[in-house]
Amino acid sequence: MIEPPTQSLPTERTGTPAVLVRDVWMDFPHKQGSQATPVLEQINVEIPRGEFVCVVGPSGCGKTTLLNIIAGFLKASRGEVLVEGESVHGPDPRRIVIFQEGSVFPWLTVSANVGFGLNHVSAAERERVIQHYIDMVGLTGFESAYLRQLSGGMRQRVEIARALAANPEVLYMDEPFGALDYFTRFKMRADLVRIWQQEKKTILFVTHDIDEAIQLADRVVVLSSRPSTIRLIMSVPLPRPRDLNSPIYLETRDRILNALGMSLRNGINASCGSHSDASGNC
Ligand SMILES: Nc1ncnc2c1ncn2[C@@H]1O[C@H](COP(=O)(O)OP(=O)(O)OP(=O)(O)O)[C@@H](O)[C@H]1O
Ligand SMILES: [Mg+2]
Repeated sequence: MIEPPTQSLPTERTGTPAVLVRDVWMDFPHKQGSQATPVLEQINVEIPRGEFVCVVGPSGCGKTTLLNIIAGFLKASRGEVLVEGESVHGPDPRRIVIFQEGSVFPWLTVSANVGFGLNHVSAAERERVIQHYIDMVGLTGFESAYLRQLSGGMRQRVEIARALAANPEVLYMDEPFGALDYFTRFKMRADLVRIWQQEKKTILFVTHDIDEAIQLADRVVVLSSRPSTIRLIMSVPLPRPRDLNSPIYLETRDRILNALGMSLRNGINASCGSHSDASGNC
């Protein structure tokens, strides 16, 4: 049985944005004998604190590249990124990315993984925080388990608990549920929305799955194929829990698909390439 997420909490939409991406361009440099790879062009996004934003786009368009630039793992060729008003110049322990392939340590227990970054607090506080997030992600009873003893979905829960325990300003997620089966993904989405509502974190979530984006996000940023520009930034005007059969849901999906030059209603059409405008019209 899928637990639906509860009603959305109001988010803080004033003051300094959590993330500000200003005129970001990215070219990967020449390799011997080959051309530079232009990946991102003129990307501008502003994410208020507490917002849940999904970035969608075709495979290879530059979603991971954009996330890596925002998280400070890559330097943009041009433009700047500010997180909580501070210019990003490199990785920072306050910025945690949850990747599809996972980054928790297989040789540590669930508890040890969740508490990994918590060396600056007292032992009692560490225990409290660890248990709080293990309970939140639904892993109570598995505190002493090693990762090999967990399913893929459970391992992703450990990832989320570990990231939250570090109390990041923004949670960055790159296709974190991509390797999970349909049912587990569905449950993980519902749980992530519940956790987001409890924690009031800003989330930037990359996915190539348009349905996943509409189920999760306050707003969806739609990237074109490479070199990637923003085709559309769309608010999802659906209250939570979301009715996946509502006409608004289907309409939202149509608009995003249309922005990518596709349609499910008339069969899958070829991409519009560079001919569609910012509203997604081909
Ligand atoms: N370190 C790198 N050096 C050179 N080119 C790179 C590098 N990283 C990514 N690229 C290129 O940049 C483009 C975008 O890659 P990226 O991984 O950001 O795409 P993506 O949208 O995340 O794709 P997917 O949906 O398949 O994960 C690709 O053409 C890729 O080959
Ligand atoms: Mg990627």
